[in-house]
Amino acid sequence: MRTQVVIVGAGPSGLLLGQLLSRQGIDNVILERKSADYVLSRIRAGVLEQGTVDLLHEAGVGARLAEEGLPHDGFSLAFEGRLQRVDLKGLTSKQVTVYGQTEVTQDLMEARQAAGTTTFYEAENVQLHDFDGASPRLSFTFEGKRREIACDFIAGCDGFHGICRASVPSGAIETFERVYPFGWLGLLVDQPPAAHELVYASSPFGFALCSMRSQTRSRYYVQVPLDEKVEAWSDARFFDELRRRVPEEVAAAVIPGPSLEKSIAPLRSFVAEPLRFGRLFLVGDAGHIVPPTGAKGLNLAASDVRYLFEALREHYAERSDAGLDAYSARAVARVWKAVRFSWSMTNLLHLFPEASPFDQRIRRAEFDYLAQSQAALTSVAENYVGLPY
Ligand code: APR
Ligand code: PHB
Repeated sequence: MRTQVVIVGAGPSGLLLGQLLSRQGIDNVILERKSADYVLSRIRAGVLEQGTVDLLHEAGVGARLAEEGLPHDGFSLAFEGRLQRVDLKGLTSKQVTVYGQTEVTQDLMEARQAAGTTTFYEAENVQLHDFDGASPRLSFTFEGKRREIACDFIAGCDGFHGICRASVPSGAIETFERVYPFGWLGLLVDQPPAAHELVYASSPFGFALCSMRSQTRSRYYVQVPLDEKVEAWSDARFFDELRRRVPEEVAAAVIPGPSLEKSIAPLRSFVAEPLRFGRLFLVGDAGHIVPPTGAKGLNLAASDVRYLFEALREHYAERSDAGLDAYSARAVARVWKAVRFSWSMTNLLHLFPEASPFDQRIRRAEFDYLAQSQAALTSVAENYVGLPY
């Protein structure tokens, strides 16, 4: 079997790249380790920058997003009970759109199926060969049989634990990492959200976030120690903890209900450099991870896809490799700015177990500064709506 681009991973990165390539007439095949249902069962974040929304429209999957996505003109930060709105629209003239990553993935899967583009779900033991030369190949097991596929390029869209980054010789890659000493316990519930906009709250008991998926479905998070077990958290305990961490007026508006999903995610910042090795390109979580505090993970995946798609289009349509040669540097430059923003939001809003009274005063001073300075708020706002490509 032969194709132009093999994409490893059918998360948002792989599916979006595949869709853009297919519309451009560039042949591609996706190899995904899990089933489509499994991929769709993962609950992830859901705040899209305008650039991400634009790219989804360009990929031809914007119809349901335009119908059901919730445009947000702002969000709130809360610190020790005080609320500070960040007026995204007023400060930057831009908005964000709340639309779950699961919905994005579903729309992309449906479009791919409608186009009849090849995807091997439940492809086991994917291995990459010869990607440092002109003729890369991949082998994988599908329905019990070992298969091989030759291609021009490999897009590693297989997430943080994937095989693509792991296939690069260790001397050829440098990694940068911060693992935070806590995780987020998330709960999904079919109740209207506590507030019209997102509320990121810092309290003496730790961080909490009030988010949403729709007018009738809410997503809440509380910071928990890394060794916490989700079984230890009944829905009632979760809502009690959430309420004591958010300002009173928000707590009063939280409507509890039976959880549809409850899970704990660790928080990590991670960047691999470079994002290209010969004919292998790393995209999305395969190349970098940010803590969810800045809502940047999916948006960074989209900006990588945009750079790589443009580069591949140039390669095939204009016989120019300038975009491919620039891919890693362009993507990494944008990634680091989002890594910095997510790290600073995480530091501002979370309770660190080792924090001293000095650290706590610094956090309070940072919040006070935000509350008094248009310049400081504008900086948060322009990062939140998304820096230019
Ligand atoms: N072979 C084939 N597929 C694999 C392999 C492998 N060895 N390893 C992982 N995969 C698949 C996973 O099953 C998953 O479906 O690659 C896909 C990677 O998808 P994601 O983890 O969603 O990564 P990405 O598409 O880059 O999306 C980034 O996801 O984690 C969030 O915050 C992040 O929103 C961001 C987005
Ligand atoms: C979510 O709704 O899941 C969500 C929103 C914003 C974040 C993180 C997660 O920063």
